Amino acid sequence: MMSRQAAFERTGKAARDVRSTLLPFHRAWIDDRDIEEVVDTLRSGWLTMGPKTLQFEQNFARYVGVRHAVSVNSCTAGLHLALDAIGLKEGDEVITSVYTFTSTAAVVLHLRARPVLVDVAPGALGMDPDLVEQAITPRTRAILPVHLAGAPCDMDALLELASRYGLRIVEDAAHALPARYKGHLVGAIGDLTVFSFYAIKNLTTGEGGMITTDSDHYANVLRTRRLHGISRDAWQRYSAEGSWHYEVEYPGYKCNMTDLSAALGLQQLQKLDMFHAVRTYYANLYNLGLSDLPELTLPEAPADGGHAWHLYIIHLNLDRLTIGRDTFIELLREDNIATSVHFIPLHLHPYYRDTFGYKPEDFPRALAAYRGAISLPLYPRMSEADVWDVIRAVRRIVERYRVRRPA
Ligand SMILES: Cc1ncc(COP(=O)(O)O)c(C=O)c1O
Repeated sequence: MMSRQAAFERTGKAARDVRSTLLPFHRAWIDDRDIEEVVDTLRSGWLTMGPKTLQFEQNFARYVGVRHAVSVNSCTAGLHLALDAIGLKEGDEVITSVYTFTSTAAVVLHLRARPVLVDVAPGALGMDPDLVEQAITPRTRAILPVHLAGAPCDMDALLELASRYGLRIVEDAAHALPARYKGHLVGAIGDLTVFSFYAIKNLTTGEGGMITTDSDHYANVLRTRRLHGISRDAWQRYSAEGSWHYEVEYPGYKCNMTDLSAALGLQQLQKLDMFHAVRTYYANLYNLGLSDLPELTLPEAPADGGHAWHLYIIHLNLDRLTIGRDTFIELLREDNIATSVHFIPLHLHPYYRDTFGYKPEDFPRALAAYRGAISLPLYPRMSEADVWDVIRAVRRIVERYRVRRPA
Protein backbone atom coordinates (compact mmCIF):
# COMPACT_ATOMS: atom_id res chain seq x y z
CA MET A 1 0.00 0.00 0.00
CA MET A 2 1.19 3.53 -0.78
CA SER A 3 2.56 5.86 1.90
CA ARG A 4 0.25 8.22 3.73
CA GLN A 5 1.81 11.24 2.04
CA ALA A 6 1.59 9.72 -1.43
CA ALA A 7 -2.03 8.85 -0.83
CA PHE A 8 -2.86 12.41 0.26
CA GLU A 9 -1.27 13.72 -2.89
CA ARG A 10 -2.90 11.17 -5.14
CA THR A 11 -6.33 12.52 -4.28
CA GLY A 12 -5.07 15.82 -5.69
CA LYS A 13 -6.76 17.67 -2.89
CA ALA A 14 -4.15 17.90 -0.19
CA ALA A 15 -4.65 21.64 -0.04
CA ARG A 16 -8.44 21.50 0.22
CA ASP A 17 -9.77 22.04 3.69
CA VAL A 18 -13.46 21.58 4.29
CA ARG A 19 -15.83 19.78 1.94
CA SER A 20 -18.38 22.01 0.28
CA THR A 21 -21.12 19.35 0.33
CA LEU A 22 -22.29 16.96 3.01
CA LEU A 23 -20.88 13.44 2.89
CA PRO A 24 -23.86 11.38 4.12
CA PHE A 25 -23.27 8.62 6.63
CA HIS A 26 -24.64 6.15 4.13
CA ARG A 27 -26.11 5.91 0.65
CA ALA A 28 -27.20 2.64 -0.91
CA TRP A 29 -25.69 1.44 -4.17
CA ILE A 30 -28.67 0.94 -6.49
CA ASP A 31 -27.83 0.64 -10.18
CA ASP A 32 -29.77 0.00 -13.41
CA ARG A 33 -29.59 -3.78 -12.97
CA ASP A 34 -31.25 -3.53 -9.57
CA ILE A 35 -33.94 -1.28 -10.99
CA GLU A 36 -34.54 -3.50 -14.04
CA GLU A 37 -34.88 -6.62 -11.87
CA VAL A 38 -37.49 -4.94 -9.66
CA VAL A 39 -39.35 -3.58 -12.69
CA ASP A 40 -39.29 -7.08 -14.20
CA THR A 41 -40.97 -8.35 -11.02
CA LEU A 42 -43.59 -5.61 -11.19
CA ARG A 43 -44.33 -6.48 -14.82
CA SER A 44 -44.51 -10.19 -14.04
CA GLY A 45 -47.53 -9.64 -11.82
CA TRP A 46 -46.08 -11.89 -9.08
CA LEU A 47 -45.26 -9.45 -6.28
CA THR A 48 -44.75 -11.40 -3.08
CA MET A 49 -43.03 -14.64 -2.10
CA GLY A 50 -42.61 -16.57 -5.34
CA PRO A 51 -39.99 -17.47 -7.94
CA LYS A 52 -37.59 -14.60 -7.18
CA THR A 53 -37.69 -15.28 -3.46
CA LEU A 54 -36.92 -18.95 -4.04
CA GLN A 55 -34.08 -18.07 -6.38
CA PHE A 56 -32.65 -15.53 -3.95
CA GLU A 57 -32.75 -18.10 -1.13
CA GLN A 58 -30.96 -20.70 -3.27
CA ASN A 59 -28.30 -18.26 -4.42
CA PHE A 60 -27.76 -16.99 -0.88
CA ALA A 61 -27.41 -20.49 0.58
CA ARG A 62 -24.86 -21.34 -2.11
CA TYR A 63 -22.93 -18.12 -1.44
CA VAL A 64 -22.72 -18.75 2.31
CA GLY A 65 -22.04 -22.48 1.90
CA VAL A 66 -25.01 -23.73 3.90
CA ARG A 67 -27.92 -26.10 3.19
CA HIS A 68 -30.80 -23.68 3.76
CA ALA A 69 -31.50 -19.99 3.53
CA VAL A 70 -34.97 -18.87 4.64
CA SER A 71 -35.90 -15.31 3.77
CA VAL A 72 -37.90 -12.99 6.02
CA ASN A 73 -38.90 -9.34 6.01
CA SER A 74 -36.28 -8.17 8.55
CA CYS A 75 -33.45 -9.41 10.71
CA THR A 76 -35.59 -8.63 13.75
CA ALA A 77 -38.32 -10.97 12.47
CA GLY A 78 -35.67 -13.55 11.61
CA LEU A 79 -34.18 -13.50 15.12
CA HIS A 80 -37.66 -13.86 16.60
CA LEU A 81 -38.45 -16.76 14.29
CA ALA A 82 -35.10 -18.47 14.95
CA LEU A 83 -35.64 -18.32 18.72
CA ASP A 84 -39.20 -19.54 18.25
CA ALA A 85 -37.87 -22.43 16.14
CA ILE A 86 -35.50 -23.60 18.89
CA GLY A 87 -38.51 -23.71 21.21
CA LEU A 88 -37.65 -20.74 23.43
CA LYS A 89 -40.38 -20.26 25.98
CA GLU A 90 -41.39 -18.28 29.04
CA GLY A 91 -38.76 -18.35 31.78
CA ASP A 92 -35.90 -19.43 29.50
CA GLU A 93 -32.73 -17.35 29.27
CA VAL A 94 -30.69 -16.26 26.27
CA ILE A 95 -27.19 -14.88 26.77
CA THR A 96 -26.36 -11.99 24.49
CA SER A 97 -24.20 -8.89 24.24
CA VAL A 98 -25.02 -5.62 25.95
CA TYR A 99 -23.33 -3.87 23.01
CA THR A 100 -25.97 -4.23 20.32
CA PHE A 101 -29.13 -2.87 18.76
CA THR A 102 -32.34 -3.30 20.72
CA SER A 103 -33.79 -5.97 18.37
CA THR A 104 -31.28 -8.54 19.55
CA ALA A 105 -32.71 -8.56 23.06
CA ALA A 106 -36.27 -7.39 22.31
CA VAL A 107 -37.09 -10.59 20.40
CA VAL A 108 -36.12 -12.63 23.47
CA LEU A 109 -38.61 -10.58 25.48
CA HIS A 110 -41.30 -11.06 22.80
CA LEU A 111 -41.10 -14.77 23.53
CA ARG A 112 -41.39 -14.05 27.29
CA ALA A 113 -37.86 -15.26 27.89
CA ARG A 114 -35.08 -13.26 29.55
CA PRO A 115 -32.13 -11.68 27.75
CA VAL A 116 -29.07 -12.08 29.98
CA LEU A 117 -26.64 -9.35 28.95
CA VAL A 118 -22.87 -9.74 29.14
CA ASP A 119 -20.05 -7.28 28.57
CA VAL A 120 -17.74 -7.21 25.56
CA ALA A 121 -14.31 -8.87 25.49
CA PRO A 122 -11.25 -6.71 26.26
CA GLY A 123 -10.38 -4.59 23.24
CA ALA A 124 -13.31 -5.95 21.21
CA LEU A 125 -16.96 -5.19 20.56
CA GLY A 126 -18.08 -8.84 20.62
CA MET A 127 -19.09 -10.51 23.86
CA ASP A 128 -16.57 -12.05 26.22
CA PRO A 129 -16.81 -15.90 26.24
CA ASP A 130 -15.59 -16.03 29.87
CA LEU A 131 -18.49 -13.83 30.94
CA VAL A 132 -20.86 -15.93 28.83
CA GLU A 133 -19.79 -19.02 30.74
CA GLN A 134 -20.29 -17.26 34.08
CA ALA A 135 -23.83 -16.26 33.00
CA ILE A 136 -24.97 -19.82 32.18
CA THR A 137 -27.72 -21.17 34.48
CA PRO A 138 -30.04 -24.19 34.28
CA ARG A 139 -32.53 -21.93 32.46
CA THR A 140 -30.12 -20.93 29.67
CA ARG A 141 -31.32 -22.18 26.28
CA ALA A 142 -29.18 -20.29 23.80
CA ILE A 143 -26.20 -18.03 23.21
CA LEU A 144 -26.85 -15.12 20.83
CA PRO A 145 -23.55 -13.65 19.64
CA VAL A 146 -23.56 -10.35 17.73
CA HIS A 147 -20.84 -9.95 15.09
CA LEU A 148 -20.68 -6.25 15.66
CA ALA A 149 -19.57 -4.01 12.79
CA GLY A 150 -18.88 -7.20 10.81
CA ALA A 151 -16.07 -8.58 13.01
CA PRO A 152 -16.74 -12.24 13.84
CA CYS A 153 -16.97 -13.17 17.53
CA ASP A 154 -14.74 -15.81 19.11
CA MET A 155 -16.91 -18.62 17.76
CA ASP A 156 -14.67 -21.53 18.81
CA ALA A 157 -15.05 -20.54 22.45
CA LEU A 158 -18.82 -20.05 22.11
CA LEU A 159 -19.32 -23.31 20.19
CA GLU A 160 -17.36 -25.16 22.85
CA LEU A 161 -19.58 -23.68 25.60
CA ALA A 162 -22.71 -24.52 23.60
CA SER A 163 -21.65 -28.12 23.21
CA ARG A 164 -20.54 -28.48 26.84
CA TYR A 165 -23.77 -27.05 28.27
CA GLY A 166 -26.20 -28.30 25.58
CA LEU A 167 -27.12 -24.83 24.27
CA ARG A 168 -28.15 -23.58 20.84
CA ILE A 169 -26.24 -20.84 19.01
CA VAL A 170 -28.38 -18.26 17.21
CA GLU A 171 -26.17 -15.58 15.63
CA ASP A 172 -27.07 -11.95 15.01
CA ALA A 173 -25.22 -11.41 11.74
CA ALA A 174 -27.01 -8.17 10.84
CA HIS A 175 -23.59 -6.63 10.11
CA ALA A 176 -21.69 -9.75 9.10
CA LEU A 177 -22.15 -10.32 5.38
CA PRO A 178 -19.65 -11.52 4.30
CA ALA A 179 -17.63 -12.13 7.48
CA ARG A 180 -15.34 -15.14 7.68
CA TYR A 181 -14.23 -17.13 10.70
CA LYS A 182 -11.48 -19.74 10.32
CA GLY A 183 -12.29 -20.42 6.70
CA HIS A 184 -16.10 -20.45 7.02
CA LEU A 185 -18.44 -17.65 6.19
CA VAL A 186 -20.56 -16.49 9.12
CA GLY A 187 -23.89 -18.15 8.38
CA ALA A 188 -22.36 -21.61 8.16
CA ILE A 189 -21.17 -21.86 11.77
CA GLY A 190 -23.89 -21.75 14.48
CA ASP A 191 -27.26 -23.55 14.53
CA LEU A 192 -29.10 -20.58 13.05
CA THR A 193 -27.72 -17.28 11.73
CA VAL A 194 -29.72 -14.19 10.86
CA PHE A 195 -28.71 -11.44 8.42
CA SER A 196 -30.22 -7.99 7.83
CA PHE A 197 -30.89 -6.43 4.44
CA TYR A 198 -32.07 -3.11 5.86
CA ALA A 199 -31.38 -0.05 3.70
CA ILE A 200 -27.89 0.69 5.04
CA LYS A 201 -26.62 -2.88 5.30
CA ASN A 202 -23.87 -4.48 3.19
CA LEU A 203 -26.56 -5.99 0.94
CA THR A 204 -29.95 -4.30 0.86
CA THR A 205 -33.47 -5.26 -0.12
CA GLY A 206 -34.87 -2.07 1.47
CA GLU A 207 -36.13 -4.11 4.40
CA GLY A 208 -35.39 -7.81 4.66
CA GLY A 209 -33.47 -10.59 6.31
CA MET A 210 -32.26 -14.15 5.86
CA ILE A 211 -31.89 -17.07 8.25
CA THR A 212 -29.31 -19.70 7.35
CA THR A 213 -29.05 -23.19 8.80
CA ASP A 214 -27.72 -26.64 7.95
CA SER A 215 -30.63 -28.26 9.76
CA ASP A 216 -33.49 -29.62 7.62
CA HIS A 217 -35.69 -29.63 10.70
CA TYR A 218 -35.15 -25.94 11.52
CA ALA A 219 -35.52 -24.96 7.87
CA ASN A 220 -38.94 -26.68 7.67
CA VAL A 221 -40.10 -25.09 10.90
CA LEU A 222 -38.95 -21.63 9.78
CA ARG A 223 -40.58 -21.95 6.35
CA THR A 224 -43.91 -22.90 7.89
CA ARG A 225 -43.91 -20.36 10.70
CA ARG A 226 -42.82 -17.35 8.65
CA LEU A 227 -46.10 -17.61 6.69
CA HIS A 228 -48.91 -18.12 9.23
CA GLY A 229 -47.89 -21.67 10.11
CA ILE A 230 -49.77 -23.03 7.12
CA SER A 231 -48.75 -26.23 5.47
CA ARG A 232 -47.96 -24.82 2.01
CA ASP A 233 -46.88 -21.40 0.99
CA ALA A 234 -48.73 -19.03 -1.30
CA TRP A 235 -46.40 -19.78 -4.14
CA GLN A 236 -47.49 -23.39 -4.14
CA ARG A 237 -51.13 -22.47 -3.65
CA TYR A 238 -51.42 -19.87 -6.41
CA SER A 239 -49.01 -21.26 -8.98
CA ALA A 240 -50.17 -23.52 -11.77
CA GLU A 241 -49.35 -26.69 -9.84
CA GLY A 242 -50.91 -25.47 -6.56
CA SER A 243 -54.33 -26.09 -5.07
CA TRP A 244 -56.62 -24.09 -2.79
CA HIS A 245 -56.29 -26.42 0.17
CA TYR A 246 -54.01 -25.69 3.14
CA GLU A 247 -53.77 -26.63 6.80
CA VAL A 248 -52.66 -24.57 9.78
CA GLU A 249 -50.02 -26.47 11.74
CA TYR A 250 -48.98 -23.70 14.12
CA PRO A 251 -50.14 -20.16 15.03
CA GLY A 252 -47.44 -18.72 12.80
CA TYR A 253 -46.21 -15.24 11.91
CA LYS A 254 -46.42 -13.08 8.80
CA CYS A 255 -42.83 -12.16 8.05
CA ASN A 256 -42.06 -13.62 4.64
CA MET A 257 -40.08 -11.76 1.99
CA THR A 258 -41.72 -10.26 -1.11
CA ASP A 259 -40.55 -10.96 -4.66
CA LEU A 260 -40.01 -7.21 -5.03
CA SER A 261 -37.42 -7.29 -2.24
CA ALA A 262 -35.93 -10.57 -3.45
CA ALA A 263 -35.49 -9.11 -6.95
CA LEU A 264 -33.29 -6.42 -5.46
CA GLY A 265 -31.51 -9.02 -3.33
CA LEU A 266 -30.72 -11.20 -6.36
CA GLN A 267 -28.90 -8.35 -8.06
CA GLN A 268 -27.23 -7.07 -4.89
CA LEU A 269 -25.87 -10.55 -4.15
CA GLN A 270 -24.09 -10.54 -7.50
CA LYS A 271 -22.29 -7.36 -6.46
CA LEU A 272 -21.56 -8.43 -2.88
CA ASP A 273 -17.92 -9.39 -3.48
CA MET A 274 -17.28 -6.09 -5.21
CA PHE A 275 -19.02 -4.20 -2.38
CA HIS A 276 -16.89 -6.06 0.13
CA ALA A 277 -13.65 -5.40 -1.74
CA VAL A 278 -14.39 -1.66 -1.80
CA ARG A 279 -15.33 -1.62 1.90
CA THR A 280 -12.11 -3.46 2.76
CA TYR A 281 -10.04 -1.09 0.62
CA TYR A 282 -11.62 1.97 2.29
CA ALA A 283 -11.12 0.47 5.76
CA ASN A 284 -7.44 -0.01 4.88
CA LEU A 285 -7.27 3.63 3.72
CA TYR A 286 -8.69 4.76 7.06
CA ASN A 287 -6.07 2.63 8.81
CA LEU A 288 -3.36 4.14 6.66
CA GLY A 289 -4.54 7.72 7.18
CA LEU A 290 -5.18 7.55 10.93
CA SER A 291 -2.96 4.90 12.47
CA ASP A 292 -0.23 7.29 13.62
CA LEU A 293 -2.61 9.19 15.94
CA PRO A 294 -2.33 7.99 19.57
CA GLU A 295 -5.58 9.84 20.29
CA LEU A 296 -7.46 7.15 18.36
CA THR A 297 -7.80 3.39 18.60
CA LEU A 298 -8.71 1.92 15.24
CA PRO A 299 -10.78 -1.22 14.59
CA GLU A 300 -8.89 -4.40 13.81
CA ALA A 301 -9.97 -7.57 12.08
CA PRO A 302 -9.88 -10.44 14.61
CA ALA A 303 -6.84 -12.66 14.14
CA ASP A 304 -8.85 -15.66 12.92
CA GLY A 305 -11.47 -13.73 11.02
CA GLY A 306 -12.36 -11.89 7.87
CA HIS A 307 -14.09 -8.60 8.66
CA ALA A 308 -17.26 -7.74 6.72
CA TRP A 309 -16.49 -4.04 7.29
CA HIS A 310 -20.10 -3.01 7.71
CA LEU A 311 -18.97 -0.28 10.09
CA TYR A 312 -15.65 1.44 10.69
CA ILE A 313 -15.84 2.44 14.37
CA ILE A 314 -12.99 4.56 15.70
CA HIS A 315 -12.47 4.91 19.42
CA LEU A 316 -11.43 8.28 20.83
CA ASN A 317 -8.89 7.96 23.63
CA LEU A 318 -10.62 10.66 25.62
CA ASP A 319 -7.79 11.18 28.11
CA ARG A 320 -5.70 12.45 25.18
CA LEU A 321 -8.30 14.93 23.90
CA THR A 322 -9.70 18.15 25.34
CA ILE A 323 -13.15 17.53 23.82
CA GLY A 324 -15.65 14.73 24.25
CA ARG A 325 -17.12 12.40 21.63
CA ASP A 326 -20.29 14.43 21.06
CA THR A 327 -18.33 17.62 20.33
CA PHE A 328 -16.04 15.65 18.01
CA ILE A 329 -19.13 14.53 16.07
CA GLU A 330 -20.44 18.11 15.89
CA LEU A 331 -17.09 19.34 14.57
CA LEU A 332 -17.07 16.65 11.90
CA ARG A 333 -20.59 17.71 10.93
CA GLU A 334 -19.39 21.32 10.61
CA ASP A 335 -16.81 19.94 8.18
CA ASN A 336 -19.69 18.32 6.23
CA ILE A 337 -18.95 14.78 7.40
CA ALA A 338 -21.95 12.85 8.76
CA THR A 339 -21.16 10.12 11.28
CA SER A 340 -23.08 7.91 13.69
CA VAL A 341 -22.64 6.00 16.97
CA HIS A 342 -22.97 2.23 17.21
CA PHE A 343 -24.32 1.51 19.75
CA ILE A 344 -25.77 2.96 22.92
CA PRO A 345 -25.34 -0.18 25.07
CA LEU A 346 -28.69 -1.70 25.97
CA HIS A 347 -28.34 -1.19 29.73
CA LEU A 348 -28.25 2.60 29.28
CA HIS A 349 -31.69 2.69 27.62
CA PRO A 350 -34.60 3.47 29.96
CA TYR A 351 -36.47 0.22 29.25
CA TYR A 352 -33.56 -2.14 30.03
CA ARG A 353 -32.23 0.06 32.83
CA ASP A 354 -35.57 0.24 34.63
CA THR A 355 -36.75 -3.33 33.96
CA PHE A 356 -33.52 -5.02 35.03
CA GLY A 357 -32.15 -2.35 37.40
CA TYR A 358 -28.87 -1.90 35.54
CA LYS A 359 -26.38 0.81 36.46
CA PRO A 360 -24.03 2.30 33.83
CA GLU A 361 -20.94 0.72 35.47
CA ASP A 362 -22.44 -2.79 35.37
CA PHE A 363 -20.83 -3.23 31.94
CA PRO A 364 -17.62 -1.17 32.19
CA ARG A 365 -16.04 -2.22 28.89
CA ALA A 366 -19.20 -1.53 26.88
CA LEU A 367 -19.61 1.81 28.63
CA ALA A 368 -16.04 2.86 27.87
CA ALA A 369 -16.33 1.67 24.26
CA TYR A 370 -19.57 3.61 23.77
CA ARG A 371 -18.21 6.83 25.28
CA GLY A 372 -15.42 6.99 22.71
CA ALA A 373 -17.16 5.47 19.68
CA ILE A 374 -17.71 7.17 16.35
CA SER A 375 -18.72 5.32 13.18
CA LEU A 376 -17.13 6.94 10.14
CA PRO A 377 -18.84 6.77 6.73
CA LEU A 378 -17.97 3.50 4.95
CA TYR A 379 -19.86 2.39 1.86
CA PRO A 380 -19.05 1.52 -1.74
CA ARG A 381 -20.86 4.53 -3.19
CA MET A 382 -18.48 6.98 -1.57
CA SER A 383 -15.31 7.78 -3.48
CA GLU A 384 -11.70 7.37 -2.45
CA ALA A 385 -11.49 11.19 -2.30
CA ASP A 386 -14.41 11.14 0.16
CA VAL A 387 -12.44 8.77 2.41
CA TRP A 388 -9.50 11.17 2.40
CA ASP A 389 -11.85 14.07 3.18
CA VAL A 390 -12.92 12.17 6.30
CA ILE A 391 -9.33 11.37 7.21
CA ARG A 392 -8.29 15.00 6.86
CA ALA A 393 -11.27 16.22 8.91
CA VAL A 394 -10.56 13.72 11.71
CA ARG A 395 -6.87 14.65 11.72
CA ARG A 396 -7.63 18.40 11.84
CA ILE A 397 -9.84 17.94 14.89
CA VAL A 398 -7.37 15.65 16.67
CA GLU A 399 -4.49 18.02 15.97
CA ARG A 400 -6.47 20.99 17.27
CA TYR A 401 -7.87 19.37 20.42
CA ARG A 402 -5.14 16.97 21.51
CA VAL A 403 -3.89 17.22 25.07
CA ARG A 404 -0.52 18.91 24.89
CA ARG A 405 1.82 17.29 27.36
CA PRO A 406 4.60 19.44 28.86
CA ALA A 407 7.86 18.88 26.99
C1 LIG B 1 -26.91 -5.70 15.48
C2 LIG B 1 -28.27 -5.59 14.85
N1 LIG B 1 -29.14 -6.59 15.02
C3 LIG B 1 -30.37 -6.57 14.47
C4 LIG B 1 -30.78 -5.50 13.70
C5 LIG B 1 -32.16 -5.50 13.13
O1 LIG B 1 -32.15 -5.53 11.71
P1 LIG B 1 -33.47 -5.23 10.89
O2 LIG B 1 -33.58 -3.75 10.75
O3 LIG B 1 -33.27 -5.92 9.56
O4 LIG B 1 -34.61 -5.82 11.64
C6 LIG B 1 -29.91 -4.43 13.49
C7 LIG B 1 -30.34 -3.29 12.68
O5 LIG B 1 -29.68 -2.32 12.47
C8 LIG B 1 -28.62 -4.48 14.08
O6 LIG B 1 -27.75 -3.46 13.91
